[in-house]
Amino acid sequence: MYTVIIGAAGAGKGTQAAAVQKKIGPHLASGDMFREAMAQGTPIGLEVRRFVNSGSLVPDVVAAAMVLERLSRDDARNGAVLDGFPRTVAQAEALDRELEKRGQKVDQALYLNVPEDELLRRLAGRWLCRVCQMPYHEVSNPPKVAGKCDKDGGDLFQRRDDTSDAIRTRLDLFFTETVPLLDYYRSSGVLDEIDGAQEIEKVSHDVVAAVRRRKGV
Ligand code: AP5
Ligand code: MG
Repeated sequence: MYTVIIGAAGAGKGTQAAAVQKKIGPHLASGDMFREAMAQGTPIGLEVRRFVNSGSLVPDVVAAAMVLERLSRDDARNGAVLDGFPRTVAQAEALDRELEKRGQKVDQALYLNVPEDELLRRLAGRWLCRVCQMPYHEVSNPPKVAGKCDKDGGDLFQRRDDTSDAIRTRLDLFFTETVPLLDYYRSSGVLDEIDGAQEIEKVSHDVVAAVRRRKGV
């Protein structure tokens, strides 16, 4: 099963993808892939740095090439949770073409709907694990030990694009470039809208229920 998670910056895509990946397949997060490439200084990392740090979108061809290559590996042959890709209609069409070649399709698009004031609150207090990129929040989702990831003990850091200017750009681009995807997936009958403003466990409950309904189990 292929599930794509759609939501604005801070909607909880990473948080919820981590919660359902065992049921579906590997968690493929385009933003995490770009940040890893930037940290390693690879050619792609150097190419995307100015887009990612300013909160702009990386060009469609670059984003699609990276995610579709990752999707072609063995562990994603029968399913994956896609977090942050696609985020334009052109990317969704590229994903459909790739899956169609394999006799597969996007089975579910989960939209985490969260009001803007809550998005801003979440991004202001977010910390991420340097090793596995698991997101935490100072108030709503603190780690058990300050500054350390619960899963692997990795150091926590704050993202360079969690500044007010870059956050504004990311939110504006969500409305202009990504919201049209909701109609794209609604018209193919795979859109499930989730109230993402609830507390984390309640959102996870609704996400798991929606996944079960789509899987028919
Ligand atoms: P990306 O890393 O995907 O960033 P984003 O879309 O801005 O989303 P975030 O990761 O900021 O938020 P999230 O929804 O994952 O929320 P989280 O779970 O962390 O992309 C970064 C950049 O890469 C883009 O700007 C672009 O430049 C580039 N890029 C990536 N993909 C691309 C593509 N396909 N095409 C072109 N460019 C691309 O949660 C946020 C916080 O809230 C955390 O602190 C968390 O603990 C907390 N929280 C989560 N859920 C709840 C809850 N229910 N209640 C309270 N707190 C909560
Ligand atoms: Mg994320």
